[in-house]
Amino acid sequence: MPDTITITDDRTGKTVTVPITDGVFPSSAIRELDPNLYVYDPAYLSTASCRSSITYLDGDNGILRYRGYPIEQLAEHSTYLEVAYLLLNGELPTAEQLSIWVDDITHHTFIHENMRKRFVDGFHYDAHPMGMFVSAIAALGTFYEDAKAIGDPDARHNSIVRLIAKSPTLAAMCYRFSVGLPFNYPDNDLTYPANFLNMMWKIGDYEVHPALERAMDVLFILHADHEQNCGTTAMRVVGSSQADPYSAAAAAASALYGPLHGGANEAVVRMLADIGTIDQVPAFIDSVKAGAGRLMGFGHRVYKNYDPRAAIIKSAAYDVFEVTGKNPLLDIALALEETALSDPYFVDRRLYPNVDFYSGLIYQAMGFPIEMFTVLFAIPRTVGWLAHWDELLNDSDQKISRPRQWYTGEAERDYIAVADR
Ligand code: CMC
Repeated sequence: MPDTITITDDRTGKTVTVPITDGVFPSSAIRELDPNLYVYDPAYLSTASCRSSITYLDGDNGILRYRGYPIEQLAEHSTYLEVAYLLLNGELPTAEQLSIWVDDITHHTFIHENMRKRFVDGFHYDAHPMGMFVSAIAALGTFYEDAKAIGDPDARHNSIVRLIAKSPTLAAMCYRFSVGLPFNYPDNDLTYPANFLNMMWKIGDYEVHPALERAMDVLFILHADHEQNCGTTAMRVVGSSQADPYSAAAAAASALYGPLHGGANEAVVRMLADIGTIDQVPAFIDSVKAGAGRLMGFGHRVYKNYDPRAAIIKSAAYDVFEVTGKNPLLDIALALEETALSDPYFVDRRLYPNVDFYSGLIYQAMGFPIEMFTVLFAIPRTVGWLAHWDELLNDSDQKISRPRQWYTGEAERDYIAVADR
């Protein structure tokens, strides 16, 4: 069978045949038929907007790989910073490369004092930390002369290192401000996840628990990239205009903020708390089926089987609960999962727990307030955004993003003076 597709325009009888490669054919086929013909594809359900060699995702079979490495193996054996190197460079680092990379990140964790003293002080005392984080990422770019020099590989590298190194610092700064606590400076003797936990929680003789440090690192690994999701697409769209990476990352973080994307983990915990007790689970499921709302943390645009990240997070949750004590909402979550997975409404629509279903429970058990959950997603996703941004800038197929529309408004008509309307 030929690996081609033939499309006929029945209006003209014109036919075009183009190759299918890896299940994809070029949209230029449509333009060949008629330069004024467009494909209507809201939300990009059937559109591959780029070629990418970073992350492979098979939603039907629940497979997620970074640069070919299964997420399960990376979560078990790797660290977030090693994974970050892998995502950015395509290969796992040698021991020497890893040591240089970790050193580089570790020595860029500090932020300009003005960020802490003047920028953050401008927020209202109860500002949402994610709103602050989005703004802080954009503001960070204004501190660096080379932020806009995106054609210069050295400047690009500097921006990548800064954004990865400083995002935990900004996140902790936003949290400490929101609860009125003094800022903790980064500690260069700590690992990436331990430094973040230390900046978050250190008061007096606080010491990071190794099991929580590892759990944080695993959560960072699981959230590091997820190919062309809403946030990464925002990064690519804004990056395609050659905006600086700080502004593009702020746009990506804004997309992540929404409750259907990275805001879902926050919504899950609120939902579980609203359900309140296990005996309310069936009534809640019935209300979802009746259209009263969604079962947050369930369903995914691409995964139509179990989200592999959810399985890893579920088991990581038990490691965390051994240290922190069980989150009382866990039993409701388990009952909800069991009920939904045996209900035809969810089974027929292939709705399974996604990454957000259990992550919020871990975050809550570790002491993070609900408002910080999306920030905890944004910190590690920064590297995914940057890997895609770098790939975009090196892709000669890419131009400024500019989709077309299907105009459904009025035809031309004459202006009517206000007195005559
Ligand atoms: N609860 C109840 N019904 C659902 C849910 C849900 N969580 N998700 C989808 N459906 C139903 C939906 O009503 C529709 O039913 P019908 O065919 O009868 O109209 C069908 O399933 C298909 O839904 P869809 O909205 O067309 O699916 P989508 O691919 O556009 O949406 C989603 C994907 C993640 C936005 C959606 O499943 C959802 O809203 N989930 C809850 C929010 C959530 O957990 N988001 C986190 C996603 S994972 C982290 C990330 O990548 O950001």
